[in-house]
Amino acid sequence: MVKIANIGERLIHEHEIIEKAVIEYIKMVYREYSKDPLKYEKYVNKVFDNIKEYLFPHIGFEEDEVFPLLKDSPIVGELLEEHREYLSILEKARKEEKMARKIWILEKLAEKLHEHVKKENEELLPLLQLLSKT
Ligand SMILES: [Fe+2]
Ligand SMILES: [Fe+2]
Repeated sequence: MVKIANIGERLIHEHEIIEKAVIEYIKMVYREYSKDPLKYEKYVNKVFDNIKEYLFPHIGFEEDEVFPLLKDSPIVGELLEEHREYLSILEKARKEEKMARKIWILEKLAEKLHEHVKKENEELLPLLQLLSKT
């Protein structure tokens, strides 16, 4: 059985990567794309695919290994709902026709992901740490 302390460490580590790599990547892209949206029209859906590819394994890890440990905590329901929301935003973003809307979605997504990671670090992680002490 994997130790809860190890699961907590993995969670912290993956969140660092999401903050430093994924969220920074999204910010870099929307700043650049805003300068000349039409120029980047043919690349933007690939960006949504990349984000999904980066996030999917992390979401899977949380839902399969972290959340079941804390299934009685109300925060888990909230976080699950947010995961569903991000995946649906990414699907809808692909189908969106206006480039300006796609760029706006990228900007919002970066903010939402930052808030989500913050919530998990500040509210979920302490619960996990409590559990590892019992
Ligand atoms: Fe999450
Ligand atoms: Fe997370």
